[in-house]
Amino acid sequence: MTVRTRTSDEAAHGAAPWWQDAVIYQVYVRSFADADGDGIGDLAGVRAKLPYLADLGVDALWFNPWYASPLADGGYDVADYRRIDPAFGTLEDAEQLIAEAHALGLRIIVDVVPNHVSDRHAWFEEARASQPGSAARERFWFRPGRGADGELPPNDWTSEFGGPAWTRLPDGEWYLHLFAAEQPDLNWNNPEVAEEHEAVLRFWFDRGVDGVRIDSATMPAKDPALPAFGPHHTKATPPQPHPFVDRDEVHEIYRHWRKVADSYPEPKALIGEVWLADPERLAAYLRADEMHCAFNFDYLNCPWDAERLRGVIDGTLAAHAPVGAPATWVLSNHDVTRHVTRYGRADSAMGRSPAQHGAPTDLALGTRRARAALLLNLALPGSCYLYQGEELGLWEVTDLPDAARQDPFFFRSAGADLGRDGCRVPLPWSGVAPPFGFSPTESTAAPWLPQPQAWASLAAEVQQDAAGSMLTLYRTALRTRRAEPALHTPDFAWTQATGPEVLDFRRGDSFRCLVNLSDADVPVPQAHALVLASGPLGADGALVPPDTTVWLHG
Ligand code: NOJ
Repeated sequence: MTVRTRTSDEAAHGAAPWWQDAVIYQVYVRSFADADGDGIGDLAGVRAKLPYLADLGVDALWFNPWYASPLADGGYDVADYRRIDPAFGTLEDAEQLIAEAHALGLRIIVDVVPNHVSDRHAWFEEARASQPGSAARERFWFRPGRGADGELPPNDWTSEFGGPAWTRLPDGEWYLHLFAAEQPDLNWNNPEVAEEHEAVLRFWFDRGVDGVRIDSATMPAKDPALPAFGPHHTKATPPQPHPFVDRDEVHEIYRHWRKVADSYPEPKALIGEVWLADPERLAAYLRADEMHCAFNFDYLNCPWDAERLRGVIDGTLAAHAPVGAPATWVLSNHDVTRHVTRYGRADSAMGRSPAQHGAPTDLALGTRRARAALLLNLALPGSCYLYQGEELGLWEVTDLPDAARQDPFFFRSAGADLGRDGCRVPLPWSGVAPPFGFSPTESTAAPWLPQPQAWASLAAEVQQDAAGSMLTLYRTALRTRRAEPALHTPDFAWTQATGPEVLDFRRGDSFRCLVNLSDADVPVPQAHALVLASGPLGADGALVPPDTTVWLHG
């Protein structure tokens, strides 16, 4: 088996570990490719598309949870970590997928969700059937209610998805769930919880998985007094100490996981979902004995604005340098509005902003900016995350019928928040009408979320060999990045800015990236050769138009 990115030989010769500058493609299995025709993506579908992913030029695949789950929160309600959800396939399919991906040089990252499990997990089933005060309930946060008959929740915490963070069982006790009621929070003060997670990590690492993405990584540690706090939480800058966000004890979990990861001949990578506004508190998760990387949500939430982007890039690099961790660059994922849509709106900030639903959207503008943003991301030092479908230029589907929606944000807000289904619509692969090759032609089941007819022009097959398509830009850019030595070092320096609304920087001695965010053309700097442009240039290649990025040598 060969893994193309970095071999242990290269590591021995001083090359950087693979995760430091990898391009990682996020696979939302349910919406990627459906091989068995039930309208739901599956592992066999992913296996069939592995050559497409290898050809795209990414280094690794991150899979959203693929474990057995009632899918109350798209699989982030794990019922059994040691089984694949039957809708997706079997453990054997996963093992084959890992082996086949490795053979193509693609590494594999799986999701681990330490904060909670499904209410259908064996532990919660046992807790539900056990007495108040029992050992089975000690793995979770069970409490009596307040009020004369315990009819009020134990405290005022609210769920991330809206509504109270507590649900009452028929025997009168309440349990904590910072997300949906189907996602009871685990009690990390119970040693069994830590032991089980170590076993889960080893289960997947032993099967060849190369790293884990750690879900809601700031939240597993709780103040056991469960003090009243109020509805503000998670993504805002929390007052310290917060009863459940970013508590100091949470770092012990990841120090232990790092030891587990490092115990393998080729150490496994830990990648955290750490939503924290304070860059120093975020960097604390990236200390040498904790995680390797964390998603850069400041960047994802940054509007298409040169000064703001420059600030986020500088802030990111400054926060990561002292802990020696690589930065990451990400614009879309399964939780946020697709960036083609965000960048086509007057207010392009905020990955997910229910207030923006229905805002006028210029998709041509958003697409142009998304192309420019790709070349910016891939030129910055560190690793990049791509979300499936962005290589096709997919936009957010904003007009899904209510009856099709599945996201708890939608249900728990009584429809006020449309939720995240619009970025999870099954991919268009081929053909001129839904299911666009997502499911086999003979299948009778429609895709689990309806695809827009207008995606016919974005199907992978249509774009595959089309000069100027989004897919062609991704493939060319990824190949160019791979071959460009300067992009695999930490070297980064702003050049004499061409203007305040232009991002202009060098990597190494001869690579330069220039992003024009102004509304006027900008001259291509003298004595530079064009490597790649995100869109057509003006004046025979001498001018960079607005919302365009160029890569240059010189
Ligand atoms: C973050 C995940 O990305 C999101 O999809 C999920 O709903 C929550 N964590 C809860 O697990």
